[in-house]
Amino acid sequence: FSAFLTDTFDRQHDYLRISVTERCNLRCLYCMPEEGVPLSPSRELLTTPEIVLLSSLFVSQGVTKIRLTGGEPTVRRDIVPLMQQIGALRAHGLRELCLTTNGLSLHRKLDAMVEAGLTGVNLSLDTLDPWQFQLMTRRAGFAAVRKSMDRILELNRAGAGIKFKINCVVMRGLNDREILPFVEMTRDEDIEVRFIEYMPFDGNKWSEGKMFSFQEMLDVIRSKYPDVHRETGHRNDTSKTYKVPGFAGRIGFITSMTHNFCGTCNRLRITSDGNLKVCLFGNAEVSLRDILRKVNQGEPIEEEVLETLKQVAMAKPGYIAPLDDTPPLMAPNSQELLEVI
Ligand code: GTP
Ligand code: 5AD
Ligand code: SF4
Repeated sequence: FSAFLTDTFDRQHDYLRISVTERCNLRCLYCMPEEGVPLSPSRELLTTPEIVLLSSLFVSQGVTKIRLTGGEPTVRRDIVPLMQQIGALRAHGLRELCLTTNGLSLHRKLDAMVEAGLTGVNLSLDTLDPWQFQLMTRRAGFAAVRKSMDRILELNRAGAGIKFKINCVVMRGLNDREILPFVEMTRDEDIEVRFIEYMPFDGNKWSEGKMFSFQEMLDVIRSKYPDVHRETGHRNDTSKTYKVPGFAGRIGFITSMTHNFCGTCNRLRITSDGNLKVCLFGNAEVSLRDILRKVNQGEPIEEEVLETLKQVAMAKPGYIAPLDDTPPLMAPNSQELLEVI
């Protein structure tokens, strides 16, 4: 494995998350203010050839999984051609190409994406009720999301093998009553529903009171499914996986607030303006875009990108204190969090 992607704690960074846009077509309460986030001028954003070049460089160093995120990745106009080009890196060692999406317009592009090599979809969906959806996302659109979900399940029944997870951020008093209906979805379908602890960042009006903890979620689930049990997970999972015996799917918990998982974090992140980040909550950022754009001046860039990777990996902290030790994890600002989760 490349020394460039191994950090001082021997974590091997084989998972790259790339934010392909800051824009989003929803306004989830826990994520974006109604007015949206300030957008960067387009010349500051990575172009498609730049994203493809960086992807291939990371794959050449041992990255085997790339996840495209946003904002909402499907609002990038050329998302499908972008995925086709990244998908071609399968020939060079890429094993998984995944998307984290709110599903609003996914149904229109899904088939082409699968064709391009999409292997996994994490769908952000916090409620199964159209009115509650409108309340939590400040937009209508539940039916469109449903359509995307149905299409994924349909493709899978035809053998597409898309790894399908639902991300559900649980907020007290808003959607905590829906935990059991979400678990019920895993009865017949081979999907993983992951319940996420609500995380704070500037501007999302987080309060500890609105956070529904992992333990509380588990208590709710045990009240109806006392046999629910933990499954062994993979080393770098963000979530702890459980299963109700006899159910086709699984449930998971992303416990960023009460039991964090920094110690096994294998993620690297590139923001839509080309900054490399090794930690969701850290500030250590370096502009890969600025290095790439030196190409125009005729300088070789691969070595410099790799050297930069190494320096940034070495600066990655081993651990960030969880909620019970210190004040909550606090990302610098909402836009930054948006781009990096
Ligand atoms: P898989 O590849 O399916 O494991 O997906 P993922 O969990 O890496 O990605 P996804 O985009 O679905 O993110 C789900 C949630 O995981 C986000 O809401 C974040 O809360 C959380 N998350 C992802 N990466 C990190 C991380 O490095 N640190 C922390 N604290 N949370 C993270
Ligand atoms: N707390 C927890 N999860 C969040 N997400 C966005 N904002 C927050 C927050 N404040 C989740 C979304 C999406 C994933 C990428 O991050 O639901 O599924
Ligand atoms: Fe958009 Fe996802 Fe943020 Fe919701 S959580 S506003 S869908 S980026």
